[in-house]
Amino acid sequence: MRLIGVGVGPGDPELVTLKAVRVLATAGRVFVPVLDAADTGRAEATVRAHASHERIERLVFALNERTDTARRERHWDAAGSRVAQWLRDTGGTAAFATIGDPNVYSTFGYLAQTVRDLLPDVVVETIPGITAMQAMAAASGTPLVEGTEPLTLLPLARGVEPLRDALTGDGTVVVYKGGRHLRRIAELAKDAGRDAVYGEHLGLPDERVRSLSDVDDSGPYLATVLLPARRSSRGGKL
Ligand SMILES: C[S@@+](CC[C@H](N)C(=O)[O-])C[C@H]1O[C@@H](n2cnc3c(N)ncnc32)[C@H](O)[C@@H]1O
Repeated sequence: MRLIGVGVGPGDPELVTLKAVRVLATAGRVFVPVLDAADTGRAEATVRAHASHERIERLVFALNERTDTARRERHWDAAGSRVAQWLRDTGGTAAFATIGDPNVYSTFGYLAQTVRDLLPDVVVETIPGITAMQAMAAASGTPLVEGTEPLTLLPLARGVEPLRDALTGDGTVVVYKGGRHLRRIAELAKDAGRDAVYGEHLGLPDERVRSLSDVDDSGPYLATVLLPARRSSRGGKL
């Protein structure tokens, strides 16, 4: 019994590794997270570019739930039970596709923990995927980090305050889950004298990349802001 978390990148089916394609093509079942059982999820859309349809199964998660923890846990329990049941019944290999990388702010970690509790013998593996952070750097033509610059990846689901501290350093900051706070992020970037590049739906047909100062007050869930380190000369941070 094997459960493999497969990173499928930010949305462009070409940004999926050969290893991920092989596992998606050969796993006995490919589970995908969705918000609603009737809708195709982001990960599923990418999976469908590579894997046959009848082996794909949707698992409903409360993906953006911030307050109702009981609701979130109910979905983790139900999804974990379903995956454990499939593994127990077949003894096979199940894949779980997740956007970006399965070890970067992914539902996969919670699912794997639940399945492990139910099936201690299960072997859990992950296949890395291209993160939104990397897709953002590529789409905006901005090196993510150079020389000795540190990199801070900051999820702002609970508000913008952590960004103020992060901007006091001289490294690059990448903001995830900040779509609702774009105006505040722009203000903090301006106060800190930082450039800020905004990207939404990276790798998808409706991708938008522009300076954060040219963006409306709020963006979608799939929005990333890149605040590069200040650089004054070639290799100046080596
Ligand atoms: C739950 S995290 C998932 C991160 C993902 N596992 C990764 O490795 O990039 C969701 C956040 O990732 C960012 N994100 C993921 N896919 C994106 C995309 N296609 N375009 C812009 N941002 C994206 C957004 O900031 C979003 O709020």
